[in-house]
Amino acid sequence: MSDSPPKLSSSIQAVVLVGGEGRRLRPLTDTRPKPMMPLVDRPFVAHQLDHLRRHGVVDVIFSCGYRPNALRDHFGDGRGHGVVLRYVVDPDPLGTAGAVRNASHLIHADRILVVNGDILTDLDLTALMAQHDESGAEGTIALTPVEDPSAYGLVRLRGDRSVEEFVEKPSPDELRPGEPCLINAGTYVLERRTLDRIPAGTKVSIERETFPLIVDDRRLFGFPSDAYWRDIGTPASYLDANLDVLTGALSTDAPAGPIYVGAGATIDPLAQVVGPVSAGAGCSVAACAVVERAVIGDRSRVERGAHVTGSVLGTDVRVGEGAILAGLVVVGDGAVIAAGQHIEGPATVPTGRPHV
Ligand code: GTP
Repeated sequence: MSDSPPKLSSSIQAVVLVGGEGRRLRPLTDTRPKPMMPLVDRPFVAHQLDHLRRHGVVDVIFSCGYRPNALRDHFGDGRGHGVVLRYVVDPDPLGTAGAVRNASHLIHADRILVVNGDILTDLDLTALMAQHDESGAEGTIALTPVEDPSAYGLVRLRGDRSVEEFVEKPSPDELRPGEPCLINAGTYVLERRTLDRIPAGTKVSIERETFPLIVDDRRLFGFPSDAYWRDIGTPASYLDANLDVLTGALSTDAPAGPIYVGAGATIDPLAQVVGPVSAGAGCSVAACAVVERAVIGDRSRVERGAHVTGSVLGTDVRVGEGAILAGLVVVGDGAVIAAGQHIEGPATVPTGRPHV
């Protein structure tokens, strides 16, 4: 990446929402905001910056709340990632629309691309922006198909892709025969004037409060896409996102291959590592240990004969000799699993406390 800041276009800016507390990913988010969770070789949100840059969006605002300094300290002015990065911090959580409104003093472009900071996707942002332009929309929401929309909000479109309605957590009898189950994919294009619809300094949800106003004016459109899409908000989806990057389920700038070994990590030749596995910088896996479908955080140690399967270790974790972690065990930073312990997931081990 060049050292000089990229050239900015006046037509579009991105606001990446990175202010949530990431409660579902605790204890891993006790010590860092969710967008700073590692995804193979870099923080999660770095993949989003790479994705924006690939589509020519280089003027980016991070809308922060929880632990903003972790983001600032890592990304600075963004030039290491080929973008120009600025920050706003919610005084209190402002919700997904309130947070965009709070960035309005930094928004000079005609259009805003809003991205939830916990979505891994290779969505064609260029095509999304082109549809937005061509349709004359005020807002365009990327939509992804799901088998079962009952845990989400269904977005129902008309033939011209304008949004007919949102159906929150639909029951099977609310679905029309054969209709596609499209849900909000957490990426939107908005015209600048949408900011005027959002009251300042108050908590506002874009999905529940702002979009319905635009639907009423028939200016909200959907952009259905079959692109890879995953929300990393839960331990299971966070683990799967790592495994998907390692197996190349979507194209990213991460190194190719089912086993990633970070700088200074040591894997004993007598250890068994069955990919996909991400072994963070400075970690170690001792002889006779087995690591399979797992994320091992930086500097964590898996000692002799221990097994870590389908699980996530934070940073500086120690898994003692012969301990067994299987089936989605999530271990907070600095925790120590005693030798011989057997933990069957789903389970979490709190940060920094020995688990005996
Ligand atoms: P949970 O606490 O586990 O629900 O996670 P979350 O609140 O971090 O994520 P959620 O899925 O609710 O939000 C989607 C995205 O919007 C995430 O990237 C959050 O960081 C971000 N976000 C949510 N609420 C706010 C907010 O009030 N302000 C800002 N700036 N970002 C937010």
